[in-house]
Amino acid sequence: REFSVSSLSLIFICLQQAEASPYSLLDISLKALTADLEKFCTERQDGTLCLKESERLPQEVADRLLQTMAFHELLNDGTVGIFRGNQIRLKQACIRKAKISALSFRKAFCHHKLIELDATGMNADISIADIVSGLGSNKWIQQNLQCLVLDSLRLSLTNPYERCFNQLSGLRALSITNVRFHNEDLVEIASLPRLESLDISNTSVTDITPLLACKDRLKSLSMHYLKCLTMTTPQVLDVIRQLKYLNHLDISDDQQFTSDIPVSLLEQKDILPQLVSLDISGSKYITDEAVEAFVKQRPAMQFVGLLATDAGYSEFLSGEGNLKVSGGANEIQISEALKRYSERSYFVKEAFFRLFTQTCFMRITKPEILKLVIVGMRNHPLDLAVQLTASACSLNLTRQGLSAGMPVRLLSDVIHLLLKAVENFPEQQQLQKNCLLLLSSVRILQDVPFNRFEAAKLVMQWLCNHENQNMQRMAVNISSILALKLSSEQTAQLSAELYIVELLEIVEQKTNLNEVDTTFMFTLSALWNLTDESATTCRHFIDNQGLELFMRVLECFPSDSAIQHKVLGLLNNVAEVRELQSKLMWKDFIDCLSELLCSAEIEVSFFSAGIIANLLSRGEQAWTLSQTQRKSLIEQLHSTILKWPTPKCKMVALVAYRSLNPFYPLLDCFTISGVQLWAVWAMQHVCCKTPARYCSMLIEEGGLQHLYDIKENNQTDPDVLRINNEILDTVETHMMYYGRPKYLKKPQTKSNG
Ligand SMILES: *[C@@H]1O[C@H](CO)[C@@H](O)[C@H](O)[C@H]1NC(C)=O
Ligand SMILES: *[C@@H]1O[C@H](CO)[C@@H](O)[C@H](O)[C@H]1NC(C)=O
Ligand SMILES: *[C@@H]1O[C@H](CO)[C@@H](O)[C@H](O)[C@H]1NC(C)=O
Ligand SMILES: *[C@@H]1O[C@H](CO)[C@@H](O)[C@H](O)[C@H]1NC(C)=O
Ligand SMILES: *[C@@H]1O[C@H](CO)[C@@H](O)[C@H](O)[C@H]1NC(C)=O
Repeated sequence: REFSVSSLSLIFICLQQAEASPYSLLDISLKALTADLEKFCTERQDGTLCLKESERLPQEVADRLLQTMAFHELLNDGTVGIFRGNQIRLKQACIRKAKISALSFRKAFCHHKLIELDATGMNADISIADIVSGLGSNKWIQQNLQCLVLDSLRLSLTNPYERCFNQLSGLRALSITNVRFHNEDLVEIASLPRLESLDISNTSVTDITPLLACKDRLKSLSMHYLKCLTMTTPQVLDVIRQLKYLNHLDISDDQQFTSDIPVSLLEQKDILPQLVSLDISGSKYITDEAVEAFVKQRPAMQFVGLLATDAGYSEFLSGEGNLKVSGGANEIQISEALKRYSERSYFVKEAFFRLFTQTCFMRITKPEILKLVIVGMRNHPLDLAVQLTASACSLNLTRQGLSAGMPVRLLSDVIHLLLKAVENFPEQQQLQKNCLLLLSSVRILQDVPFNRFEAAKLVMQWLCNHENQNMQRMAVNISSILALKLSSEQTAQLSAELYIVELLEIVEQKTNLNEVDTTFMFTLSALWNLTDESATTCRHFIDNQGLELFMRVLECFPSDSAIQHKVLGLLNNVAEVRELQSKLMWKDFIDCLSELLCSAEIEVSFFSAGIIANLLSRGEQAWTLSQTQRKSLIEQLHSTILKWPTPKCKMVALVAYRSLNPFYPLLDCFTISGVQLWAVWAMQHVCCKTPARYCSMLIEEGGLQHLYDIKENNQTDPDVLRINNEILDTVETHMMYYGRPKYLKKPQTKSNG
């Protein structure tokens, strides 16, 4: 909590580890800093932020900070203020998806000694002209900026013919994809004196002849999906032939636009002698033989892109040796494709589709592949086909045994993205189904951090909209587990009447059919857990004739103690709600309870006693049924509890409590010893079973005072006193190991007595 910005310099020493390890301290710190940036900043008069610390951040950390902010899409006119001035120095700046004005850009970034800038996908009111002229205003940047990425931006907002690239004389690598970029712009760029690498994929260039101006420098050229090209194939090949220093050429397509350039290129013998990497993914009429012949003439070749082509199936092109291949034929090719094409949705989809087939045969956990799936999913959140194929792949990559070896962090990312996708495509049942299937794993539900409230909402909605038996079983199973992990407020919010009605309906159907199956049991668990310390849910239960229904359940399954256990556990929750207690004063119900109290099954007897104790604790006036019955219940309660085994640790846990709050009013009920007896018995049971959890709970909730009151009261029943003191002993032992909370420490006295 006590964390200063400068401490990041120290933390930077802890380098990032593989995804199997926990997040690095640097990542955690950067995330905390960015999530709470205002706390570490003051505000300038113009509303922008300024870091408080006077010390400087190391430049590498500053770059990472900016990158983290960009990743979480936190860059706006206010937040980029922290990069003004000289407190922070940037070198490799990533401002992807920043939503800032041209003026903010200039003030925050153009005075740094930048050698790289990635401005992909910034907001629509900043143009490439704004960015380039901003950079060009700094002499140092003009000469030293080496790498500039301007993908998916607008060229100019006002004057389409405004050109300014020629200022950036140091530029070696430029990427300007998905931009309406024309031949004239290409002329300007091709004249940059040091340009070696150029990506003009999906631009409006119709003629690549201007590239001849840099033919002696250009080493890498990407022209994926150059859809407007008007040149003939021989003309294109003629230009390419002259780019004789090229070692990387990408002329891939997305299969919609057919070009025979790749086929013809493969036939050329004397072309591109220095080539080591060729991408022709998505091209038609490509054969293994043609590719092999081409590669064999150039023994230095290291990569061929063949995804979404008919090639890549021969042994030579398997991708297993030194020659890397992106494709769909095997897992290695698919991984390569996902690594290279994560920004191209068409290829991502294609690779996921191929991956899905592969996952059906996978027998071992593959974190590195799941990681690639995550990147593809994250990059194309609004592409339904990507999300659907990704969800199917992640499911098969994590199914059953396989999730055990998957790093928690990856599982957490996948669930996060999947929940987002479900939110973006609320009508997509298959997506929801895959999400549900992924969630129904013990490991994920228990160990993986994700937004359980969002997930629970999804599952509950699902439950209401679908009839499919298998899915219903899964949904109630998941909700019963999720419910316990939510706060009381969240449970209340989640337990809209609609959902409770739905759950009650399932109970009713199953009861009518006399069908005890897992869905039935999970539904009872879900209702039990959802009513725990949630007065709202309990009210919905009562308002929708839950009590009548549950009485019928008890009648229909008179000898099934597992059902009785859950039913009575839930009714216990209802009995704890003061304003609902009168609703339970129903003669048939009380008669039934008094019978169940005598059950030989401890859990049945225990929960019946709990309901009775709660109802009795309200005193004589609140009792609306026969007083004779009340008296006999009081006696029965006390004598029954004494017959139970001492609540020893070996016994299975009867219940898991969110807090011990429901017990305190019962401990204070000095007029009826049976009520106190039930409460101390229950508390001793859980404290002895899971001391770390419940002793701490008892201390933190201030519950010890109630136990001291019992200890000091001369009216206390001896049985109550005995168990009460045993709990106090357990707590003492616990504190010996875990320390005494501050407020319980004896005040220091001066004398040494
Ligand atoms: C190509 O770029 C345009 C913007 O110029 C964009 O709208 C479109 O989605 C891009 N197409 C592909 C296949 O990336
Ligand atoms: C992969 O998932 C699909 C459904 O998403 C399923 O039909 C198939 O059986 C799964 N494969 C394996 C091996 O689990
Ligand atoms: C219910 O969920 C738990 C935890 O995810 C799982 O272990 C159990 O197999 C599921 N049961 C059924 C019948 O789906
Ligand atoms: C929640 O349900 C589970 C499964 O039935 C049960 O073991 C647990 O005690 C319940 N907890 C609460 C507080 O309702
Ligand atoms: C019990 O304690 C009360 C004070 O709390 C006192 O007035 C009363 O005399 C005591 N009774 C006995 C029997 O000690």
